[in-house]
Amino acid sequence: MADLFSSYTLKDITLRNRIAIPPMCQYMAEDGIANDWHLAHYTSLARGGSGLVIVEATGVAPEGRITPGCLGLWNDTQTEQLRAIAAAIKAAGAVPGIQIAHAGRKASANKPWEGDDHMPENDPRAWQPIGPSAIAFGGDLPRVPKEMTIDEIDRVKSDFVAAAKRALDAGFEWLEIHFAHGYLGQSFTSAHANHRTDIYGGSFENRARFTIETLEAIREVWPENLPLTARFGVIEYDGNDEETLNESIQLVKAWKQRGLDMLSVSVGFTIPQTNIPWGPAFLAPVAQRVRNEAGIPVSSAWGFGAPSLADNAIRNEALDLAMIGRAHLENPHWSYFAAKQLGKENPAWVLPAPYAHWLARYRSPTEA
Ligand SMILES: Cc1cc2nc3c(=O)[nH]c(=O)nc-3n(C[C@H](O)[C@H](O)[C@H](O)COP(=O)(O)O)c2cc1C
Repeated sequence: MADLFSSYTLKDITLRNRIAIPPMCQYMAEDGIANDWHLAHYTSLARGGSGLVIVEATGVAPEGRITPGCLGLWNDTQTEQLRAIAAAIKAAGAVPGIQIAHAGRKASANKPWEGDDHMPENDPRAWQPIGPSAIAFGGDLPRVPKEMTIDEIDRVKSDFVAAAKRALDAGFEWLEIHFAHGYLGQSFTSAHANHRTDIYGGSFENRARFTIETLEAIREVWPENLPLTARFGVIEYDGNDEETLNESIQLVKAWKQRGLDMLSVSVGFTIPQTNIPWGPAFLAPVAQRVRNEAGIPVSSAWGFGAPSLADNAIRNEALDLAMIGRAHLENPHWSYFAAKQLGKENPAWVLPAPYAHWLARYRSPTEA
């Protein structure tokens, strides 16, 4: 039976364990370019022992960033800076992954600690968000997006493809397409955000078209032997959950037929008014259902930071990979913490030798 510390192989890539660090925006870039902050942050996370480190949501175009501090992947300088990060993650023994993203109508926002809301239109750093329809998200993100023309849809699809090529060139071995969290891909699939009357809106088939075409085009440039994954909110908790979940499973099956290797199961966040049952590992049963019904490997996040929860989700075959996010901000060596908690032999040796040697040798330095 697999557990949290079993290795995991997808396509030609083997992770040293089932612990993955999900994308977490740092909001520390300028002009989309990674800097010393990002290099130190991702190196430290990778040295912590997880199998996979996925670099944060990285905009495929300037207007696809959530905030002016978000990473981008549309020019050579951005690619070069990310190359150093991919190499550092790999040198630390983890697999380097990256999430490519377009924020759609949620773009042009302030950093979370500066408000987490849309920048005012007259802020010199602000830009015009785009989306499937001219419908605002609402709440703190009131800006009405410009409804995308067919040309703009084609352009964004090409931006995703170009970013995927750059990610490969930079040395990433695991690609995640961000189709979740109310950003552009998720907006196209959702009747809450998509009121189009052309071939990209209306029926489920039409709402699915943007993500299917984007994924197909990315698969053509992303090597067959490397994992291509997507993050998607399969459920909104808006009172219409069974229908949304059934549609989502149909969509994931369609993506799978076109080359998707794994789904990161998440929540839609397409509207502000929802009733999300926040709690430890609350998405585990949802992820398991997607895994079984769509017949695809899954990962998931949200509240798996207690090691026993992550380990049980793997043992019970709810998840193939456990995504551990904020717990890694609390302790970048979470894998060591988990190995100790789960009673693994020689737990310190999930860390590199310059740390492990000392931690393995003596009584825990934090014990009273
Ligand atoms: C600081 C921060 C930044 C995040 N940025 C992203 C992101 O770039 N892309 C994404 O899909 N999710 C993002 N998320 C969501 C996380 O990937 C993850 O789903 C969330 O933290 C819940 O998992 P946890 O309970 O293990 O922290 C972010 C979360 C945090 C805390």
